[in-house]
Formats: sequence, C-alpha cells, structure tokens
Amino acid sequence: MHLETRRLILREYTLDDWPAVNAYTSDPRVVQYMSFGPTTPDQTREHLHGSIAAAAEQPRCRYELAVVLRGEQRLIGTATLDVDRRERRHAYFSYLLHSQYWGQGYATEAMRTLIDFGFTQLHLNRVADTCDTRNRASARVMEKLGMRREGHLRETIWKAGRWYDEYLYAILAHEWVLPIPEAQ
Ligand SMILES: CC(C)(COP(=O)(O)OP(=O)(O)OC[C@H]1O[C@@H](n2cnc3c(N)ncnc32)[C@H](O)[C@@H]1OP(=O)(O)O)[C@@H](O)C(=O)NCCC(=O)NCCS
Repeated sequence: MHLETRRLILREYTLDDWPAVNAYTSDPRVVQYMSFGPTTPDQTREHLHGSIAAAAEQPRCRYELAVVLRGEQRLIGTATLDVDRRERRHAYFSYLLHSQYWGQGYATEAMRTLIDFGFTQLHLNRVADTCDTRNRASARVMEKLGMRREGHLRETIWKAGRWYDEYLYAILAHEWVLPIPEAQ
C-alpha cells in the first residue's frame, strides 16, 4: 500500500527500516504517553516483523505505515489504522513522529490521508483514538482533523506507579470532509 500527501509518503515497512524506527521509539520523549518503549533494537526488529506479517493477513486489519518525507525519502514516523476484526466498520488509529519533525503539521497531514483511506477505500463508519489527557499535541491533532471529543475516560492508563486519564476522540463517515491537497 502506498499513499501520498503534499509532503509525505505513507508506505509499507521493510525490515531494513528498523534503525530509522528505533531512532524515535527509543526516545523517552516520543514514547512518554505510549503503552510501549523506550525500545531496544531487538524489540524494534521484532515489532517490524509483526507489522510486516500483519500487512500480509487477509482480510487485512492492521495498516501500520512508515511516514516518509517525500523530498529526502527520510522515514520520520509511524501512522497506524487498526480495523476491528468482526464488523470491519470501525477503526482506531495511532501516530508517532521523530521529535525533530514535531510542530510542522506532519502528523495531521499523514492522519488526514490515512483516515480518508479508511472512509473511502475501507468503507469505515467510524474512526477513533484515545490519548493521555496530558498529551496536548495529540489532542490538538485530533481536533484539527475535525474529530469530536466524546469522552473523558478516567484512570485507564497505569504507568510508573499511578493512574492517568484519557480523552476519547472520534469522527463518523458522514462527518468526514474530503481533504483539499493544498490545505493538508
Ligand atoms: C503527537 C504528535 C504525533 C504530533 O505530531 P506533529 O507533527 O507535531 O503534529 P502537528 O504539527 O500536525 O500538530 C500539533 C499541534 O499540537 C500543538 N501542540 C504541540 N504541543 C503542544 C502543547 N504542549 N500544548 C498545546 N498544543 C500543543 C501544535 O501547536 C499544533 O497545533 P497548531 O497547528 O494549532 O499550532 C507528536 O508530538 C508525537 O510524535 N508525539 C509522541 C507520540 C504521541 O504522543 N503520539 C500520539 C499518541 S495518542
């Protein structure tokens, strides 16, 4: 699978991508609000094996894609859509980027295209995500995508000896506005 935006390519992973992926998944700042990491090289290689195997499953449920800068062909992050296995009508997504590339609209641009793929190609009815309530950047990305905050989930994350809350964001197919390429 291959998706393109104005500045980015979203493509399948290969095992050779592990050093570029580990460069951000091993960074404590990047994984601060994630349920994994910081990773070791072995963990990243194992994860990529799983991601590549999941991409070959039929029907496919996991679309975990490398986010690559078009100009430099540099891998800067991950964008994932996880379709529910039974009905195949709703999905959760997630995203993370190398910290060097934060604050330039890349996450919003990548997710706008991946969500659009979910609604138009996979015929999803609903796309959702949760984020730690402290993760202001992630909440902002979801607001910029036009998602609605549907809930405040109390004490759903146990990390480093204490509980944290999450926000739940979602958008429905009939609410989705097709992206204008120049505005991405
Ligand atoms: C979340 C993440 C992917 C965002 O990537 P990004 O490319 O920087 O996102 P964008 O540039 O598209 O948008 C970020 C928005 O958050 C805002 N923002 C960033 N940090 C913020 C903060 N501390 N408080 C409030 N807003 C913040 C930015 O100003 C921007 O909004 P704006 O366009 O209105 O100015 C990136 O920070 C990341 O990889 N974080 C670590 C992994 C992670 O938390 N993933 C999400 C898990 S739910």
